[in-house]
Amino acid sequence: MHHLLVTGGAGFIGANFVHYMIDQYPEYHIVVYDKLTYAGRRENLDPVADRPNYTFIQGDICDAEQVRQAITTHQIDTIVNFAAETHVDRSILDPDAFVKTDVLGVSVLCEAVRALQLERFHHVSTDEVYGPIPEGTCTETDAFRPTSPYAASKASGELLALSYHITYGLPLTITRGVNTYGPYQYPEKVMPLFITNALDDLPLPLYGDGRQVRDRLHVLDHARAIDLVLHRGQAGHAYNVAADCEKTNIEVARLIVQALGKPESLIQSVTDRPAHDIRYALDTSKLQALGWQPQVDFEQGFAATIDWYCQHQPWWRPIKSGDYLAYYRRQYGEHLATLLGSTSAQD
Ligand code: NAD
Ligand code: DAU
Repeated sequence: MHHLLVTGGAGFIGANFVHYMIDQYPEYHIVVYDKLTYAGRRENLDPVADRPNYTFIQGDICDAEQVRQAITTHQIDTIVNFAAETHVDRSILDPDAFVKTDVLGVSVLCEAVRALQLERFHHVSTDEVYGPIPEGTCTETDAFRPTSPYAASKASGELLALSYHITYGLPLTITRGVNTYGPYQYPEKVMPLFITNALDDLPLPLYGDGRQVRDRLHVLDHARAIDLVLHRGQAGHAYNVAADCEKTNIEVARLIVQALGKPESLIQSVTDRPAHDIRYALDTSKLQALGWQPQVDFEQGFAATIDWYCQHQPWWRPIKSGDYLAYYRRQYGEHLATLLGSTSAQD
């Protein structure tokens, strides 16, 4: 395992994973393969751009020929797949791209791993495949009950990959991670959206009553967990990844306004997300048995994340314009989008 193809490596978790792996394993060659959709940003990889063991390819995981070429050209032995459409709200507006990338794209990667006999295919999945968990925790053998088109596409991609393991012996491992936060997260996701809106004294659009619970995992811990499963996980197995740090959305919104010295009146309840899952929570005994524990304490990770968005305004300000505004208008309505548009126009 020395030549890694990291698909979706220009996105939030992928880029953080690449930064971490390049430092951790200077002897590995890391090839990022990313379509650069609206969520993928080449500049997320600027910190490693000059490393001799790093290569970037712009490519689509649905393009079988381009995937094959990337693998053979760079003598890839391992694929770590982050590539996906990832935003639940966008999947409710337009499910199509989710089915293409999160299902068809995974099938293309499985075929390539099978045909070219790679050593490992690690697929990055999500707690959302289990569906809502009002009480208790899910273990890896629990049934899938996805509720959004995003979650259903991720569940389908995973099932297809598992079928390749069972049928063809594909050397597959899977991680199912919880809600992840940290630097380089596209500001449509709740934490960067709320932080960047609060910095501009704009409303924080809280869905419904904000009582939904998510387990909040720092992206570095997510990257470490994938590294561990990649090296010590057993083929054919899935591993839950969680921080045991449950917080409601309203708690997070309040923590953000407090940290930035803004009034609570910025938090505004808006129409709830359809089929909004009330809670996710995972049992991580299986990952712990491999020696994993989350290392980033929420208070520290949260403060560092707020600080990162304060210090990296040239990263997120250009994103919050153009197509982003069109999406914002569709998702949150004319009134909230106009407020955002007037701020972006001043910058
Ligand atoms: P992201 O949206 O920030 O990044 C996704 C990346 O995939 C982007 O760089 C995008 O350009 C790329 N991509 C999309 N379609 C592609 C295609 N067809 N071919 C090649 N590249 C393509 O997502 P993220 O939050 O970093 O999530 C990464 C992975 O982790 C996803 O598979 C997601 O389902 C999973 N996950 C995310 C979280 C979370 O909280 N963010 C939690 C658990 C699991
Ligand atoms: O749980 C893992 C999942 O976490 C990943 O699989 C997804 O790729 C990732 O996007 C994330 O999904 P969520 O739906 O949990 O993330 P999001 O940031 O969109 O929302 C987090 C919570 O905040 C959720 O309960 C909805 C709420 N929310 C979100 C937005 C964007 C709001 O209240 N207001 C908002 O404007």
